[in-house]
Amino acid sequence: MSEELVAADIRVAQTLPSRFYHDESLFKSLLSTFYGWQYAIHKSDLSQNSITPIEHIEAITGEPTIIVKGSEVKAMSNICTHRGMRLVGEPCTKSVFQCEYHGRTFDLDGAMKHMPEFEQAIGFPSDSDNLHQFALSTWKGLLFVSQGIEEAQPWQGLNNRFDFLDIESFTHDPSRDRDHTIAANWMLYVDNYLEGFHIPFVHPELNQTLDYSGYTTEVFDGGVLQIGKAAHGDVKFELPDNHPDYGQDIAAYYLWLFPNMMFNFYPWGLSVNIVIPVSPSQTRVLYRGYVKDENLAKEGAGSILDTVEIQDQEIIEHVNKSMLSKVYDRGRYSPTREQGVHHFHRIISTWYAELTKEKDLNEGVE
Ligand code: FES
Ligand SMILES: [Fe+2]
Repeated sequence: MSEELVAADIRVAQTLPSRFYHDESLFKSLLSTFYGWQYAIHKSDLSQNSITPIEHIEAITGEPTIIVKGSEVKAMSNICTHRGMRLVGEPCTKSVFQCEYHGRTFDLDGAMKHMPEFEQAIGFPSDSDNLHQFALSTWKGLLFVSQGIEEAQPWQGLNNRFDFLDIESFTHDPSRDRDHTIAANWMLYVDNYLEGFHIPFVHPELNQTLDYSGYTTEVFDGGVLQIGKAAHGDVKFELPDNHPDYGQDIAAYYLWLFPNMMFNFYPWGLSVNIVIPVSPSQTRVLYRGYVKDENLAKEGAGSILDTVEIQDQEIIEHVNKSMLSKVYDRGRYSPTREQGVHHFHRIISTWYAELTKEKDLNEGVE
């Protein structure tokens, strides 16, 4: 299998073969793509608590993970270094935390402070008795954690687009949070997100607020940015005159970061979708809402998120069933409307080619 599974030239390329959407071993192999940067929380989530377990990161990677605000903000393992008890179940304000199993304590830097009945233990404590630390990176108040590969930070090239928004000052509004379970493969959710091609057909209400002819897609290493233009008279961003999109009526910036993070910026604030692969045919999608200006949330592209989500889910569930068809395998891309999907499939096919190469090496295949 070569990297050219999905050709670089979108005009001749074919979409991913349907087995990518239902094969159990492919599903498991591609989970390795989730061990890079994962969105954890917004800075405003840390204001009340010193320790915050990040449930969705555990759901995605299997690693119980906490964000801890001590002398600095850190990401670390939520597993006690003694015999593996989970340390913290709920966000809390503790300054020292104690394992409920045998009483080991840790400070907010993750250092082990005390352990009963270990006076006679030799070579104790050592570094491995402190909590394991994960890489943490913050972009404009958005905290990302990496549990494996610390690749490039794809958001770093986006500042010229997003500097004008004071994302850091947004506040989490839990009334906007959602937790959806969809009977479909996670990549179908991503595919659907990465094109606005379906908007006139699937989202009549959204189509009224967007100027479909002005919808654009930009691809970059590790992500895709789609820009929705506001229909005449609808709510739009106030862009400063040094902004690359100055003079245009922008209703929404839809930013996807590989593999599973979606940041939807509207004049009212930010809606984040976190995609969690559950099984080859089941996906959870978490929504998190961060508000800048509540008054703007009732109009425009950002006002009908629940309606749009349900419309998307219905379509995706149908497509998921079709992936098992014996007669459908691959399709083609619209060169003008599906650059984002093509980019995603290219990343997946490159990743898959690497995995296949490694597997062949391990098995001694020439
Ligand atoms: S597992 Fe935590 S003190 Fe024993
Ligand atoms: Fe959609």
